[in-house]
Amino acid sequence: MTRYAHITGWGMAIPDKIMTNDDISKIVDTNDEWIVSRTGIHERRIANAEETTASLATDASIQALQMANLPPEKIDLIIVSTSSPEHIFPATACLVQDSIGAVNAGAFDLSAACSGFIYALNVATQAIRSYSARNALVIGSETLSRMINWEDRNTCILFGDGAGAFVLQASEEPGGLLSAVMRSDGSGGNALSVPAGGSKYPTTAETVAKGMHYIQMNGREVFRFATRVMAHSSQEAVEQAQLKMSDINLIIPHQANQRIIEAAARGLNFPMERVMVNVDRYGNTSTASIPIATCEAVKSGRLVSGDKIILVGFGAGLTWGAAVIHWTGPFPGKRRVRPKSLRIWARFRSFLRRFIRRVEGKIWKGYF
Ligand code: ACO
Repeated sequence: MTRYAHITGWGMAIPDKIMTNDDISKIVDTNDEWIVSRTGIHERRIANAEETTASLATDASIQALQMANLPPEKIDLIIVSTSSPEHIFPATACLVQDSIGAVNAGAFDLSAACSGFIYALNVATQAIRSYSARNALVIGSETLSRMINWEDRNTCILFGDGAGAFVLQASEEPGGLLSAVMRSDGSGGNALSVPAGGSKYPTTAETVAKGMHYIQMNGREVFRFATRVMAHSSQEAVEQAQLKMSDINLIIPHQANQRIIEAAARGLNFPMERVMVNVDRYGNTSTASIPIATCEAVKSGRLVSGDKIILVGFGAGLTWGAAVIHWTGPFPGKRRVRPKSLRIWARFRSFLRRFIRRVEGKIWKGYF
């Protein structure tokens, strides 16, 4: 029997701290007028010292589980798409698994920059469609503010922090993710990168002194690439879903730059009134931007059950991708799940497991 992966829950988490363009103009030589006219960004959210990629991802996940009315132990798969993981390893997804108490889930991170959420949605959908998972949690989470050179006006004006999460569940009813296009071109890798901190340039005093642990970007090159691929991949995803552009109710693009979004809409001959834009308030939250914009589209009534939508993004790699979704919403259910209270239990469970591991270590000392 054909299985479909429906999106039955969604949630977002953004830091409280707002950084306006005027705030940035006190740090580097820029101004509100320049930033707004080139990017459409007015302000962005910046994580405080306690907020991390995993903590934002956890908060967004709890909301998504609540919406889907799904207890964490029923999740089979957790994918965190991120370019600002908590550590090289363990995977941020494993930290989320522990903090929500998803005791039966496999968990891994996916690195495809701003296109990552679309990639992760596709991977989770294929796991559901092939009967390897029934319920999946897909998260896009970033704290790129930690990887920005706050003295580089070319990049520090663009990015913001945040997270968004979707719950995907199996159903025999047609719907959910209908198609997905994933593409890459590694020849453009140097247009947008964080050169050091990996195996090629391990962190040393020299890499730090040279600022190689910061985001480096050729803005014009990324801009040209983005405007080329956004419309084309959207069109491809619509054809793959055997639909026409006139069937699409809303486009939710990666929120990098208002001008890139407008160029994509022009390329598709699609009205801007049916394109979701919130880059003005959050800046570029990388892989988190699409799920955050989706949450806001639902909240504002712009996205309702039955709609067919395009998600489309581009990013470092270079990577790009698009997906068509038949939006349905939560499955009906009687038992009310309260993941927030389950979180307390998850904390206790995590503490207990660490404690047992320590005791085991003492008992087996000298044997292994
Ligand atoms: N304030 C004032 N002036 C600035 C600033 C600033 N913040 N930044 C650059 N300038 C200056 C430049 O120095 C340059 O001056 P010059 O002509 O004297 O040399 C001038 O403004 C024009 O610079 P450009 O880089 O040509 O400006 P452009 O119009 O291309 O806008 C921007 C720059 C906003 C970065 C644009 O190229 C862009 O949005 N590119 C895409 C970036 C992007 O989306 N990146 C994220 C990808 S997603 C991911 O994977 C994370």
